[in-house]
Amino acid sequence: MKHWISTSLLCLLLANTTYAESIRQQAYISIEEQSELLEDLVDDEKWQEAAPLAEALALKVAKLQTLFPESSKGEGRARDSVWEEWPEFSQRLQNLEADFLGVSVAIAAGDHDKAEDSLDDATSACNSCHMSYRSLW
Ligand code: HEC
Repeated sequence: MKHWISTSLLCLLLANTTYAESIRQQAYISIEEQSELLEDLVDDEKWQEAAPLAEALALKVAKLQTLFPESSKGEGRARDSVWEEWPEFSQRLQNLEADFLGVSVAIAAGDHDKAEDSLDDATSACNSCHMSYRSLW
């Protein structure tokens, strides 16, 4: 945790970006890395390792809800529509959280097909939200 914070602060200083933007992007980057790992684990049918990772991802996505303060509008690659359409944006994050949780619940229930379906839902939510809410540069 400490390491994560100091890395974020370092990025902040180096890139001269703002606090909220930097913390947010770090959170997304870690979500990207972990969800790629989750896909590998599910492909390899390593269910025991996949379940807690999916839960951790759900928590990280839930945390993102707090990383878009009004004061950070216009920062980073987040479009203004994130704030202008907050209920819709927030709902998409909630759906992503539910998809990751769904992966772990399905694994616990021994329903591996359903776990794969939930993971597919989660990974397709990334692109779909980026198309609407993340700028191209
Ligand atoms: C609800 C909308 C939404 C969802 C769902 C979403 N993202 Fe994003 N993502 C964004 C926004 C907005 C930004 C820009 C944040 C900023 O620059 O402040 C972003 C930024 C990122 C970044 C930061 C680096 C960059 O290129 O800007 C990565 C990596 C990323 N997302 C990966 C993912 C992955 C992987 C998923 C799915 C597991 C995902 N995102 C799901 C909206 C979303």
